[in-house]
Amino acid sequence: MQPLSAGTQSLIEKLEAMRPEARKRDRERRKGLGDWAKQTNPGEAPKIWTAQDLMVDTSAATIKAQKAQKWMYGCVDCYQSGGWISGVGRDAYPCPKCDGLNGLIDRVNRSRLPSKFYGKKYDRNRQNLAGEGSADLLTDWGRGVFGREDVSGAAFVGAPGRGKSHLAYTIGQWVLFQGGRRVRWVNWPKHLEGIKASYGDRRTRSAECWDGLPTKGLVIVDDFGAAQATEWAKTQSWALFEECPQAVTLLITTNLNPSESGAGGMADALGERAASRLFGVCGSAIFVFGGEDKRRAI
Ligand SMILES: Nc1ncnc2c1ncn2[C@@H]1O[C@H](COP(=O)(O)OP(=O)(O)O)[C@@H](O)[C@H]1O
Ligand SMILES: [Mg+2]
Ligand SMILES: [Zn+2]
Repeated sequence: MQPLSAGTQSLIEKLEAMRPEARKRDRERRKGLGDWAKQTNPGEAPKIWTAQDLMVDTSAATIKAQKAQKWMYGCVDCYQSGGWISGVGRDAYPCPKCDGLNGLIDRVNRSRLPSKFYGKKYDRNRQNLAGEGSADLLTDWGRGVFGREDVSGAAFVGAPGRGKSHLAYTIGQWVLFQGGRRVRWVNWPKHLEGIKASYGDRRTRSAECWDGLPTKGLVIVDDFGAAQATEWAKTQSWALFEECPQAVTLLITTNLNPSESGAGGMADALGERAASRLFGVCGSAIFVFGGEDKRRAI
């Protein structure tokens, strides 16, 4: 037998020295697997994942979701292997049933729905919509969005404190959690600030409004027009409608008065072009919120 070279000898010694560490790591890993196996059977994955399957964190400005405790280790098919299915004759793959839940969590975390309305019940009895039959029309519109019908955009118009944003949120959460659709909340003044901040050294294009926004689903634009009425802001307002992707449904809330001309009027704040596009896009679903300022009425 050939004597081991000095180099090989020292390599073996090094490996020997590493062994206790490696054993410890193996033990830890087995312990981890043991934790999965110790979980009680979470049961069948539901056909449709909803808010009940989530743990929602509202400590930040926008809501964030993770799996409810029950599903933390997977469903009945995969909880014993930590969310994985061992493939026959192939590599293990992530559980396709739990994939739906991951998808929902992803959609929630991209929605940027504001935390301030989460879990706060919207009271329809306190709603004060102008016009005969408008409440029914609004219900129809909401159902249409939920059911992925090709509905027009909608606008909630009225003075501050009338519950426009709260209702927009409520619809958004329903469409997202129960309807499985993509939803994105956009605070208009912040959105414009964001676009400006992203310019950097880049040359400004005429309209960047849709950069970073989704190409399908419900896009809620809150406080539309509540920004300085510069020519640039007017161009962005116009682009919101003009460049809106086909598969996006717009829901807009605004304090601007569509019928008022001059200061406080829509045409003045948005520019004639954008104001007329708003009517074009949301014409059949413009809802005027009246009544008291709910922020003061306790
Ligand atoms: N119908 C309602 N049910 C429950 N709370 C409401 C209702 N309408 C308004 N509020 C509350 O009144 C406050 C103002 O509503 P908000 O939606 O922010 O008004 P707006 O967007 O019209 O300025 C919020 O705290 C909201 O939760
Ligand atoms: Mg509001
Ligand atoms: Zn699973």
